[in-house]
Amino acid sequence: MTNDTKNSANTMWGGRFAAGPDAIMEAINASIGFDKRMARQDITGSRAHASMLAAQGIITDKDAEAIREGLLTVLSEIETGTFVYSTALEDIHMNVEARLKEIIGEPAGRLHTARSRNDQVATDFRLWVRDQVDAAIEGLDALIRAFLDQAEAGADWVMPGFTHLQTAQPVTWGHHMMAYVEMFARDKSRFQDARVRMNESPLGAAALAGTGFPTDRHMTAEALGFDRPMANSLDAVSDRDHALEFLSNATICALHLSRFSEELVIWSSAQFRFVTLSDRFSTGSSIMPQKKNPDAAELIRAKIGRIMGSMVALFTIMKGLPLAYSKDMQEDKEQFFDAADNLMLSLAAMTGMVSDLTANKDALAAAASSGFSTATDLADWLVRELGLPFRDAHHVTGALVGMAEKQGCDLPDLSLDDMQSVHADITEGVYDVLTVDASVASRMSYGGTAPVRVREQIAAWRERLG
Ligand code: ARG
Repeated sequence: MTNDTKNSANTMWGGRFAAGPDAIMEAINASIGFDKRMARQDITGSRAHASMLAAQGIITDKDAEAIREGLLTVLSEIETGTFVYSTALEDIHMNVEARLKEIIGEPAGRLHTARSRNDQVATDFRLWVRDQVDAAIEGLDALIRAFLDQAEAGADWVMPGFTHLQTAQPVTWGHHMMAYVEMFARDKSRFQDARVRMNESPLGAAALAGTGFPTDRHMTAEALGFDRPMANSLDAVSDRDHALEFLSNATICALHLSRFSEELVIWSSAQFRFVTLSDRFSTGSSIMPQKKNPDAAELIRAKIGRIMGSMVALFTIMKGLPLAYSKDMQEDKEQFFDAADNLMLSLAAMTGMVSDLTANKDALAAAASSGFSTATDLADWLVRELGLPFRDAHHVTGALVGMAEKQGCDLPDLSLDDMQSVHADITEGVYDVLTVDASVASRMSYGGTAPVRVREQIAAWRERLG
């Protein structure tokens, strides 16, 4: 609910203004429509500030107590939905303070001592971003565990590995799943890194230059869970790097999500049938009864559009801003909120999809053995057993693939006579390496697709995640 007060001087800074702002000015200026999402952070920051002011003897303990209690009342009004927001009061900071004044009277006016909305909004937003960083880390953790479960279930199931989306060499399902564990674990570590860097408090930088009051910024920093106060007041009120980092990290994460979404869309098609998506994460068609659409995967595939859009928007907003605070920075929040909301939703939906996913073992195996997927194994055998240079082995294998293609069969179906017609020294032993299982089992190099390596990686990740 909005309570617009037009044509009257603003009660918070109205001293030198005869009339209220023009309605259009009010519409472009007000941020309450979206920054009300930071109410809890605003109140937490203000309560810490009030305690510090009292501890430093800047306000009385009695006033500080009234402020802290009054702010809790405001918070409960906000959380129960009885709070009446006013556009004329511009933003969450002034809405909360004005209501506090209604509740506790005169002491409310002492809260803003040694503080400005510039360090206040910087603090609120940083607390909000920090919560989102924690949520992203948690969401990624759950997703990584879902991929680990898939990897474990099918550590030695064979499937085609692709390059250029053409059959390349057989790989294991476990190996494919573990590739995403690596990606999402990097995403998680990027959020963890960002959290360390951002965990400094802007509160107490005041408008831009610090304050003449004997404040203790270390105290408020500690109360708010920050590691230390930011060291430069100009930087403190003008820095939005934490949001830029979050959005950059979110964009990379959304990109990874879009890549797996694309695989799910392809794999769940009737032409592939590699996986079956659960009913919980698919929808039917209103006209074609046979259809089961991978809507969640498609939507997650698309989310990078708006998440990257928000990143580009905030970089563009911040670009070229002189020190210290500029109102441009009010434009940071809507973009950020949208990106964070959509990232969390995507992570949750993807985790659900991966957990519910059924890999069709037989279809994967059938596809793994088609497309001459063991041609490289054949060439490697010629090198190892007959001592051919790899280039020659490649040539001989190419001729055998051509022959199989002409006969309409796969490599293991060629007769030994046919093989020897291409290279006389080929022996029966070659057939051992032409099976898909032998192919994957042989790829034991560190990081390779052999089931034993995959199981080692699963164990190592389980250990690391605890
Ligand atoms: N609503 C503003 C924002 O989000 C708060 C800070 C305003 N500061 C000022 N001096 N006008 O950026």
